Amino acid sequence: MVYSRVSALDFTLGECPKLPPPKRVLMTTPEHFEVAYVINPHMEGHIGAVDRDEARRQWTALRKTYLALGFDVQVLEGRPGLPDMVFCANQTLPYLDADGRRGVVLSRMHAPQRRDEVAHFATFFHDLGYDTRPLPEHVRAFEGMGDALWHPGRALLWGGYGFRTDPQAYEALTARLGVPVLALRLEDPDFYHLDTCLCVLDETTALIYPGAFDADGLRLLAHFFPRLLEAPEDEARRRLACNAHSPDGRRVIIQRGNAHTCRMLAEAGFTPLEVETSEFLKAGGSVFCMKLMFW
Ligand code: ARG
Repeated sequence: MVYSRVSALDFTLGECPKLPPPKRVLMTTPEHFEVAYVINPHMEGHIGAVDRDEARRQWTALRKTYLALGFDVQVLEGRPGLPDMVFCANQTLPYLDADGRRGVVLSRMHAPQRRDEVAHFATFFHDLGYDTRPLPEHVRAFEGMGDALWHPGRALLWGGYGFRTDPQAYEALTARLGVPVLALRLEDPDFYHLDTCLCVLDETTALIYPGAFDADGLRLLAHFFPRLLEAPEDEARRRLACNAHSPDGRRVIIQRGNAHTCRMLAEAGFTPLEVETSEFLKAGGSVFCMKLMFW
């Protein structure tokens, strides 16, 4: 079932089967990363403005951050002509099903400029023996973990729509994966993917930018996350504070300079690890979209 309001809920979080956290990290190399077109408002004014050497340094430092935390980081080579492929959270949604089978749902990118990225991820996961079926043809767009996020530790999916992913994707996902989906309408074009305004931290805590959601969405978030931390507007909009990532429910990797957000995270018992992703912010992405976690 797909749910978009609290009044329609007919299950509790405790009834959703437990899901072990994913442990593997995938990153795509940035040698072909650039801002070559504008498909989100952050990219405006940045065509041709990426410093590739600096991008490579920032990417390498992020990779080292995951390695230092004890995660195995697999690397997929970026391809010429696919400048956004480095944002490897978007081309698939990894899952572990109730029978312990691993798979990825292949995305169908909204922008034609990004459509050819998906086949490279399909090959990567196919070679690992994963189920790599796409969604049915009538689903116009689905952008993987840009818009679909697993609730930490539970077989429950959050799904954003409004700018990229077609809401029909969530009907198809709930049918295919057998999990409930909580659908959130996104209202502000600067927050075009769910991962730009929702960062799930642990089973009861999330960081959000509230201005990106409608009232029903905010009620759903408050229902499932008793502890909601709210990033201030300037940090969320200019430094994508909510595009942070907690790989372990304790440490939170986040773009440097999000001082207020970092203070809130620390007060809530998390350890912020600040990194620089300024070159990637020019394309509208930061930490969360530069990696994919899978089982
Ligand atoms: N330029 C890319 C796009 O607009 C950035 C994607 C960033 N990824 C993300 N998950 N927010 O599609």
